[in-house]
Amino acid sequence: MGMAEQHQNFYETDRALSEYLLFHYGEPKQVMAPTFVTPAALNFPARCVFECLDPARVPPRASALDLGCAVGRATFELARHCADVLGIDYSERFITIARHLRKNGSFLFGCIDEGDLTQPCQAVVPMEIDRNRVRFERGDAMNLPPDLGRFDVVLMANLIDRLSDPRRCLERLPKLLNPGGQLIITSPYTWMSEYTPKKNWLGGFEHGGKRHRSLDALKEALSPDFEFRQSKDLPFLLREHARKFQLVVAEASIWLRK
Ligand SMILES: C[S@@+](CC[C@H](N)C(=O)[O-])C[C@H]1O[C@@H](n2cnc3c(N)ncnc32)[C@H](O)[C@@H]1O
Repeated sequence: MGMAEQHQNFYETDRALSEYLLFHYGEPKQVMAPTFVTPAALNFPARCVFECLDPARVPPRASALDLGCAVGRATFELARHCADVLGIDYSERFITIARHLRKNGSFLFGCIDEGDLTQPCQAVVPMEIDRNRVRFERGDAMNLPPDLGRFDVVLMANLIDRLSDPRRCLERLPKLLNPGGQLIITSPYTWMSEYTPKKNWLGGFEHGGKRHRSLDALKEALSPDFEFRQSKDLPFLLREHARKFQLVVAEASIWLRK
């Protein structure tokens, strides 16, 4: 069993597929009853791009990589700015559906209402996005192919705290970005030993009388090769079923390759 295989089963399940299709493509009224909607917490994958990417720094014919892309919404959003966008995820199921969305522009699924009861929903890629700019591949963020090339934009949304060895992924980043390239990392830093053995957590622990924070560890790991630009809060709402939601506040950190 490979490093990434041990705890990835959730991302191959019906439940994960339904939750992430709704999370990436759901209309506000499908995600939550209007009285409760928190508009600032909707459309997270699209906001990772339009709130964190600086379009003025994106060169012509730019390439982008969305690492841990799930069912691909942010990958499509990157195609508004970049001519060639690659989405990589470890889940075979997610990549199959992302490829279906690329080919057909939409996908019908059941979003969970209560228990086994579902409501029919349709995930739709915004019409104005050129889907031909996008490709999806299955891959392991901790063991990427050596010939993947370099990109002008790399997005890693809510991936690092789901990796068994996040530093392995961080170590590869300098070789993945062109000089001046933009790196966007978002994470709520929900460290769980089921995904990441405690010895590999970037932060969220006390050692030698010091409280270790994940953003500080990112700064330490990335600063030789990246200029830290800013961090910001990116709240998001993940609907589990009609009466259960997770409200999460990811921290986005934005970096430029030196
Ligand atoms: C919390 S989800 C975030 C998905 C998406 N980026 C988003 O923001 O909605 C974590 C994603 O990382 C993927 N993943 C987990 N381990 C991975 C690995 N080793 N390599 C690539 N993707 C991985 C999972 O399949 C899942 O799609």
